Amino acid sequence: MSDHIRPPVYSSLSKWIHWITALLVLMIIPGGILMIRMHEGELQNQIFDLHRSFGVTVFALAFMRVAARQIFGVPAPSQSLTPFERRASIGVHHALIALLVIMPLLGWLMTSAYRVDVSVFGLFTLPHLMPQSEPIYDALAATHKTLGFVMAGLILTHIGAAIMHTFIKRDGVLQRMLPTRR
Ligand code: HEM
Repeated sequence: MSDHIRPPVYSSLSKWIHWITALLVLMIIPGGILMIRMHEGELQNQIFDLHRSFGVTVFALAFMRVAARQIFGVPAPSQSLTPFERRASIGVHHALIALLVIMPLLGWLMTSAYRVDVSVFGLFTLPHLMPQSEPIYDALAATHKTLGFVMAGLILTHIGAAIMHTFIKRDGVLQRMLPTRR
């Protein structure tokens, strides 16, 4: 999108999707790391169910986010960014959006390969995407794990940049994403 037709601010919808997704992912990643390292039992099963259900919610929100970006557009990067910061922020944002689609899809695929149902908050069950296969499950689980840690690194970079802009550069970059600002 060229700069002259960009909106001056993020749409309200984009902002709400951003913060709900942030909250969910900040529960999903530590929860995912914890759940596979805890004792087997009812509590572990419940955390697995929540992990999958929140993950599917993130998947749906990712499509809504992409649709909101297409419909309402996204504002140009802040004028206060250096050329490096501009390139880095666009790269991190695009990688995170891609992972918001790829991670749930990998989770859904691997759970299908393991032949466990993906029940979304007990409300409905997603169809299996592929036949049962242990080797494919192992490969997908390893990819899900690696990309989960890549995603955690990108999120820490993203949060670190927001802190730097708020407390060191004080240039209002974080405020652009706050729901209160019009
Ligand atoms: C944004 C979405 C998601 C993120 C960021 C995410 C992240 C993670 C992380 C960090 C782990 C722990 C990996 C490890 O330490 O070995 C994990 C495990 C797991 N996730 Fe997800 N996940 C997401 C969505 C999903 C979805 C939608 C499903 C299923 C429908 C799913 C199924 C699983 C399963 C079954 C495991 C355990 C894998 C194993 O047994 O090794 N995840 N996830």
